[in-house]
Amino acid sequence: MWILGCGYVGQRLARHYLGAGQSLVALTRTPASCQALIAAGIPAQARDLAVAPLGDLAWAGEAVFHLAPPPAEGVEDRLTRHLVTAFRQTGHPRRLVYMSTTGVYGDCGGDWVDETRPTAPAVPRAWRRWDAEETLRAWSRESGAELVILRVAGIYGPDRLPLERLRQGLPLAREEDSPWSNRIHVDDLVSACVAAMARGVPGAVYNACDGHPSTMTDYFLRVADLAGIPRPPLLPLDEAAGKLSPGMLSYLAESRRLSNRRLREELGLRLRYPDLASGLPTCLPTLP
Ligand SMILES: NC(=O)c1ccc[n+]([C@@H]2O[C@H](COP(=O)([O-])OP(=O)(O)OC[C@H]3O[C@@H](n4cnc5c(N)ncnc54)[C@H](OP(=O)(O)O)[C@@H]3O)[C@@H](O)[C@H]2O)c1
Repeated sequence: MWILGCGYVGQRLARHYLGAGQSLVALTRTPASCQALIAAGIPAQARDLAVAPLGDLAWAGEAVFHLAPPPAEGVEDRLTRHLVTAFRQTGHPRRLVYMSTTGVYGDCGGDWVDETRPTAPAVPRAWRRWDAEETLRAWSRESGAELVILRVAGIYGPDRLPLERLRQGLPLAREEDSPWSNRIHVDDLVSACVAAMARGVPGAVYNACDGHPSTMTDYFLRVADLAGIPRPPLLPLDEAAGKLSPGMLSYLAESRRLSNRRLREELGLRLRYPDLASGLPTCLPTLP
């Protein structure tokens, strides 16, 4: 088994499989991350999947998790294209689970969205994800390798809360201007990955989210309250806009409520944390 892109989610996934006696290799981009994984007992190699020669990697016939994000520029995912070229040269994995994002749906005006919704990526980071999905779908058709795609909502968990932003007191859009947004607890995401690898239908896409959308503002205020950080100022969107990062503004421009029916009923995942009220308190022990 291979875990390509072994960061916050990948390390938890690796620990799950190693604990179950499964051997695996994790890949990261930088030697520093690689050393940290090895020190944590996770077998790892450092390789830049976007550019490095990959011909010596023995993933033919293996199960592969692809969790590496696209490079930060352009409208194509050079990394996934490079990876598929390497598969053609070295031999194809048996099954690949790809971690995509819900950004590929674009702005849905607050509609409920399931996996049958046509994709409509609207910003470069979403185009790159869509390109990665399309590249992998074409590769799967051509090679016969099994592909399962998870479209993942905002990930939260221990050590993955917006505490720094909250401490800075940066403003948020007031509740009535804040778009719908969707989350998943990292533990449930790891379970979704394991289920997708074990029994995901080849070719299927699953939304990986808790099924209880809230607004971006609601999420930040809940975290602030739990962490004992003063609530930030809430402003009308046009006023807040001048004070928000371009990244945050691009998230505020999209609103959708994601259904996880397929994840629960077809993939058979039982979520431990079906909403923020149940999930956020589990992130508290590591709060300073
Ligand atoms: N954050 C969210 O809310 C969210 C939502 C939906 C989907 N996702 C996606 O879910 C995936 C997993 O998320 P995460 O939070 O676990 O990400 P993460 O903590 O940032 O880890 C990313 C991993 O990918 C590696 N990587 C990046 N570029 C690489 C390259 N060119 N070659 C090889 N390895 C590379 C990194 O290695 P180095 O540490 O050495 O750089 C790191 O091990 C990512 O694709 C992320 O974009 C995230």
